[in-house]
Amino acid sequence: MEEKRVATLDLGNGKKPTEFPVMSGSAGPDVIDIRTLHAKTGMFTYDPGFVSTASCRSNITFIDGDKGMLLYRGYPIEQLAEQCDFMEVCYLLMNAELPTANQKVLFDKTIHGHSMVHEQLARFYTGFRRDAHPMAVMVGVVGALSAFYHEAMDISDASHRELSAFRLIAKLPTITAMAYKYNIGQPFVYPHNDLSYAANFMHMMFSTPAEEYRPNLILAKALDRILILHADHEQNASTSTVRLAGSSGANPFACISAGIACLWGPAHGGANEACLSMLEEIGDESRINQYIKRAKDKNDDFRMMGFGHRVYKNFDPRAKLMRETCHEVLGEMGLEDDPLFKLALKLEKIALEDEYFISKKLYPNVDFYSGIVQRALGIPVSMFTAIFAMARTAGWIAQWSEMISDPEYKLGRPRQLYNGASVRRVTPIELRK
Ligand code: CMC
Repeated sequence: MEEKRVATLDLGNGKKPTEFPVMSGSAGPDVIDIRTLHAKTGMFTYDPGFVSTASCRSNITFIDGDKGMLLYRGYPIEQLAEQCDFMEVCYLLMNAELPTANQKVLFDKTIHGHSMVHEQLARFYTGFRRDAHPMAVMVGVVGALSAFYHEAMDISDASHRELSAFRLIAKLPTITAMAYKYNIGQPFVYPHNDLSYAANFMHMMFSTPAEEYRPNLILAKALDRILILHADHEQNASTSTVRLAGSSGANPFACISAGIACLWGPAHGGANEACLSMLEEIGDESRINQYIKRAKDKNDDFRMMGFGHRVYKNFDPRAKLMRETCHEVLGEMGLEDDPLFKLALKLEKIALEDEYFISKKLYPNVDFYSGIVQRALGIPVSMFTAIFAMARTAGWIAQWSEMISDPEYKLGRPRQLYNGASVRRVTPIELRK
């Protein structure tokens, strides 16, 4: 039998050191189980940004940042991106196994069966300004889904959780495309269930009643790859937000809406949009060095968007795959000489050879390339993060469901190191200075 390991904490206060169990997962660093820390010592841990904290146990996604490894349910992202489609990946995230051919047919059919949204939901859009950011619309509309499905909102019932997952995965492309159509003043396009998930999304984005639109299969495959690469990423900020919101027992639509709000931030899912805006701002190869200089300047807030990652410190495996797709798509579209693409390649080369970027382990991340691919697909920059949200919904809902069914699940309630005023008396208003 394996010996139980413990970590000993000596607070240097003359008291007997306290022991805490050390737990091992199937991969990744061991963790010190400090659940009894406060009871045993009266102290909390201090870890802003959760850089050393495992907030949960999870069987879904594993990242080894040093090796540049990303696994969904044990499968390397490279194999999934090359051999599976996004529906298989959704099935895998939800069910822990890849589907058989028959299971895949049934899953596709189920998702297709939920792809439409209630007509009443379409009216919500008119409450937004036409120029609203699609993410602002998504936060509202996805949260509003909870007003439509009262019959299946018992989160302790696994079949209700599964139905909510189907609904969310199926409706996100429809809701996302509707946000775009509303923004440009075109009529909403209904989903087409003969098409794949990615091709159907392109159909809802780009077809109009006036003209038939046939999605280019190479481009639909590129979009499918974007969805696979963004489907889950362990306990990142938005996933942790979904879990924290869900820990109070909130309904899944509200939780996913919270995840979308978090993803919107430029340090997270907003990075591909920010990266493309940055490339447009740089504008010309002759100005790259000026921006590299700014990125290094401690007194300048500017960061090179699309570079660096909290976890990947050698390379982002998703970036490698997205870079490949980027070249394929630009070739298919005849855009190899596109000035922005050439500028991006030049920036990538200069940054990869620069001492500052090397020493701080700042490599291009997935969003450096995914923005360029999406632009080539004809997707406007303001929609980039919304597409990320569409993909990540699969991971969020799988993580949420895992949390709810975990017997160790508790309401999330971090503590703090309080630095404010100590207790004091209220002075009557007429005496205050
Ligand atoms: N440009 C210039 N300097 C940078 C950058 C950058 N993009 N990223 C980090 N640094 C520097 C930072 O200034 C700091 O320097 P110092 O040690 O001198 O203070 C050092 O590198 C470490 O930075 P940090 O912010 O402590 O590291 P982090 O692990 O918290 O940051 C990050 C990760 C993604 C927030 C950051 O690299 C960043 O802001 N990158 C740009 C935004 C971006 O592309 N985000 C997308 C991430 S991929 C999508 C996803 O998975 O969500």
